[in-house]
Amino acid sequence: MNVNGEEVSREIEGRLLLVHFLRDHLRLTGTHWGCDTSNCGTCVVWLDGEPVKSCTVLAAMAGGHEVRTVEGMEKDGELDAVQKGFVECHGLQCGFCTPGMMMTARALLDRNPDPSEQEIREAISGQICRCTGYATIVRSIRWAAAEEAGTRTTATEASAS
Ligand code: FES
Ligand code: FES
Repeated sequence: MNVNGEEVSREIEGRLLLVHFLRDHLRLTGTHWGCDTSNCGTCVVWLDGEPVKSCTVLAAMAGGHEVRTVEGMEKDGELDAVQKGFVECHGLQCGFCTPGMMMTARALLDRNPDPSEQEIREAISGQICRCTGYATIVRSIRWAAAEEAGTRTTATEASAS
């Protein structure tokens, strides 16, 4: 498979989940594993451009496909606007849910550059923040949308809206 633009190939057991392949075989530990029930969404990565819960995908099924993880978000040493938004608006507390939240947020903004608060909440509704920091997560995503639209004037203004 191609992971963050790099071709990788490994001999693996057929039952290995993509989340474990990424973490244990490629050492891409930014993708977290938080449940055994497909509920928490902390394992979200992109598979051919679509956010998926990597604990529900066999690694072998991703063979020949493109996977993008949180490690692949920055470009040329520059953080993605979503990553900057989480920094600016304190979109994380412990950070456990953050990689998955950011991957879903990036996918949302690619499809809908100006999402409403409701649309953001729907987009992340398959993900759980154990620290219950949803207000700041939503603010972070709105900050990123404004940043990319060139309409953000100050972080405070975006946060207050
Ligand atoms: S680890 Fe995948 S949904 Fe919880
Ligand atoms: S910041 Fe702790 S789980 Fe979301």
